[in-house]
Amino acid sequence: MDTFINLNIVPEKDIVAAFDHMTAVKSKIPSPAYAVVRTLGCQMNEHDSEKLAGMLENMGYTIVDDYKKNKVDLVIFNTCCIRENAEGKVLGRLGELKMIKRSNPGMILAVCGCMTEQPHIVDIIKKKHKHVNLVFGTHDIYRFPAMLEKTLETGRNVYDISSTRGEMAEVPEGLPIRREDKTKAWVTVMYGCNNFCSYCIVPYVRGRERSRSPQDILNEIMRLDAEGYKEITLLGQNVNSYGKDLAKNNEKPCSFALLLEEICEKLESNKESSIKRIRFMTSHPKDLSDELIDVMARHSLICNQLHLPVQSGSTEILKKMNRRYSRDQYLALVDRIRAKMPDIALSTDIIVGFPGESEENFEDTLSLVKQVRYDSAYTFIYSPRVGTPAASSPEQIDEETVKARFNKLLDAHNTICKEINDTYLGKTVEVLVDGPSKNDPNHFSGRTSENKIVNFIVDENKISKKDIVGKLIDIKITGIQTWSLDGEM
Ligand code: 5AD
Ligand code: SF4
Repeated sequence: MDTFINLNIVPEKDIVAAFDHMTAVKSKIPSPAYAVVRTLGCQMNEHDSEKLAGMLENMGYTIVDDYKKNKVDLVIFNTCCIRENAEGKVLGRLGELKMIKRSNPGMILAVCGCMTEQPHIVDIIKKKHKHVNLVFGTHDIYRFPAMLEKTLETGRNVYDISSTRGEMAEVPEGLPIRREDKTKAWVTVMYGCNNFCSYCIVPYVRGRERSRSPQDILNEIMRLDAEGYKEITLLGQNVNSYGKDLAKNNEKPCSFALLLEEICEKLESNKESSIKRIRFMTSHPKDLSDELIDVMARHSLICNQLHLPVQSGSTEILKKMNRRYSRDQYLALVDRIRAKMPDIALSTDIIVGFPGESEENFEDTLSLVKQVRYDSAYTFIYSPRVGTPAASSPEQIDEETVKARFNKLLDAHNTICKEINDTYLGKTVEVLVDGPSKNDPNHFSGRTSENKIVNFIVDENKISKKDIVGKLIDIKITGIQTWSLDGEM
């Protein structure tokens, strides 16, 4: 008999059903029961994991952070497939868990997220990792309790893969969320991506763009405000196309600029409001409107920072990437942004070694980085993803050339980054305190509005260590590192 149940049933539109399944699971599991949620990938995945952990808590599990130290009842891997190394890591861990499951056979192992939206990965799991009990994709996290109930009931593995449901998937509202941080919170504004950049797997695994209703977003933010959160980050694969799909659901049209303005006005109208900072990501340069620039410039609640992935500085490569802007259009956008916000901190994503990238194309990227002078840049080596157009291009670049270009880019950016950081020496900056450093409990760290990391020693004559987390405090910058700043209270 096949040990798998394919749970490809019509999505439960009713979130109430998810809560019924949570109650049913609670009655089936031991007490206490322990669960681990492991996350790879982007903020979207981190936030999905907060929802998974929220549901687990609701089902009676206690969340712990290590499955090696503790005997646990359930482990979930929320996976990423943006680059090959992310996938390799998960498959390695699944091998490791096979051993752990041998000594703890009752443990339930679940794999979900972007990786499991790819049929070839599901095949690998089915064939080589039969110890995985639950497999589900990015659209189904609210159906996790139903699947867990099924596997507890039948002892069989349950798979529910639904990448084709992208366009019709409901945006589930009202799931319990176990937020990792008590100061900063993620708020999803939209799911999915319609852009199909030729290197990127995201549109295939996260489906089409679906915006949450402005009212649901505002309600969530107001709840976070009442709970005392200090900073929110609005999340979406391409926040700048927020709202374009709302008319389909008979909702009033709304743009990202309008949504942001409404959020700011609502928070600003309440003097007692706890939320002091708003960030958002990610912005696609082709969709970033002048209205959004104006809203950012008008509201001090919005951080003085913008993530604006360029990917390449060569118009020729941008065209092959299907990015739908040219080098000049990107640079003109940066000028428009800086005209309104001269000291804004810009960050970016860059891919090196995209198929067909010539030395000249790479030099264009290098010169763009020198011209824009980013505060931070996430640089990636191109990784072919099964099913994307770029993966089948015959113009793949050899590894040695790519590595040399990558290092050259990193060196150029690091120099700029250090030069920008040097301008902070002696200045006083406002820092939202995150917590103590992992290596030294006397050192605390926090971030500026520009998203610079600032490390400092707490002056306990001024404030106790236990009260400082989540506070906005002034720090004088006394030392400069490439990636961070050192300061004094
Ligand atoms: N290879 C390398 N980097 C990629 N990214 C997306 N897809 C790939 C890929 N196939 C990078 C892009 C994107 C960031 C999140 O990951 O720069 O902005
Ligand atoms: Fe991927 Fe492009 Fe969509 Fe970003 S905008 S998620 S890079 S397809």
